[in-house]
Amino acid sequence: MEKVVIKDSGYRLKKATILRTKNLTRNEKFFEIALKDGSSLDHEPGQFIMVSLLGIGESPISVCSSPSRRDSFDLCIRAVGKVTRRLHTLKKGDEIGIRGPYGRGFPVNIITGNDLLIIAGGLGIAPLRSLITYVLDNRRDFGKVHILFGCKEPKEMLFSDELEQWSQRTDLHYACTVDPEWAGNVGVITTLIPGVDIEPLRTFAAVVGPPVMYTFVIKELLKKGIPKRQILLSFERNMACGNGKCGHCQIQNLYVCQDGPVFNYEQIKNLSEAF
Ligand SMILES: Cc1cc2nc3c(=O)[nH]c(=O)nc-3n(C[C@H](O)[C@H](O)[C@H](O)COP(=O)(O)OP(=O)(O)OC[C@H]3O[C@@H](n4cnc5c(N)ncnc54)[C@H](O)[C@@H]3O)c2cc1C
Ligand code: FES
Repeated sequence: MEKVVIKDSGYRLKKATILRTKNLTRNEKFFEIALKDGSSLDHEPGQFIMVSLLGIGESPISVCSSPSRRDSFDLCIRAVGKVTRRLHTLKKGDEIGIRGPYGRGFPVNIITGNDLLIIAGGLGIAPLRSLITYVLDNRRDFGKVHILFGCKEPKEMLFSDELEQWSQRTDLHYACTVDPEWAGNVGVITTLIPGVDIEPLRTFAAVVGPPVMYTFVIKELLKKGIPKRQILLSFERNMACGNGKCGHCQIQNLYVCQDGPVFNYEQIKNLSEAF
């Protein structure tokens, strides 16, 4: 009899178990998770998954661990509404559903061999932690690495233990700023950029943070001479399918869930809606 192959439509819900949780701040919680069937998530840094709670709903959440770790993966979740608040009540051993990984993450094959300028604002450190830990796992494959991190208050600092470890490393440059004026137009993180010693043509910038940060950071990166194609930005939009079908996340002709969430600046520079 002919074998029937059922093609994965990209919607397949996979069961997963919470292995460990940790409160990072008052609003953000860390989760280490493993797929129930023992398989690897096989994500790329910068990709996201849809986290599903039966009877409550689904939310897109970035994977924040390196794909080099195969047997489990990490999420960092801010409690804002019905799904994320319920997720915060879960503990070790509880089960969740996940779909994905989805979207285009940071183009690891293109950035390998180059210098990196990684700029994280607030919760933006979550998707960038996936990239940073991947780069540190494969440190010899990259040139100079600069990490700039900014947040509003010391008590909002996520992954502070790891930030401290990165600041001690001699094979990367790390700078951090705590900026109470963050909600204003010019975040202090932008003032860190001019002082970073880079060779613009061999540098890729990876930027994730609150929307207010992007315009000002991009301006500084262009002043440094980094080509538009080498400025990589991750965007958030309300999503439903996560998979290019429903149009919820559309910015003009682009679907953030499928064409992004990571875009290079050349791709989106004329999409005023994106900013
Ligand atoms: C690609 C991507 C990656 C993300 N990664 C993370 C992550 O790593 N950690 C994390 O904590 N959050 C992340 N988010 C945001 C997260 O998806 C939303 O906070 C979450 O879906 C809210 O769901 P809820 O049911 O808890 O809130 P709801 O009850 O649905 O809404 C609460 C409030 O949040 C707003 N909101 C809902 N969805 C989004 C959204 N997607 N973006 C912005 N505002 C939204 C609503 O308009 C409302 O004001 C990501 C979003 C995207 C698109
Ligand atoms: S979330 Fe449905 S098309 Fe992007």
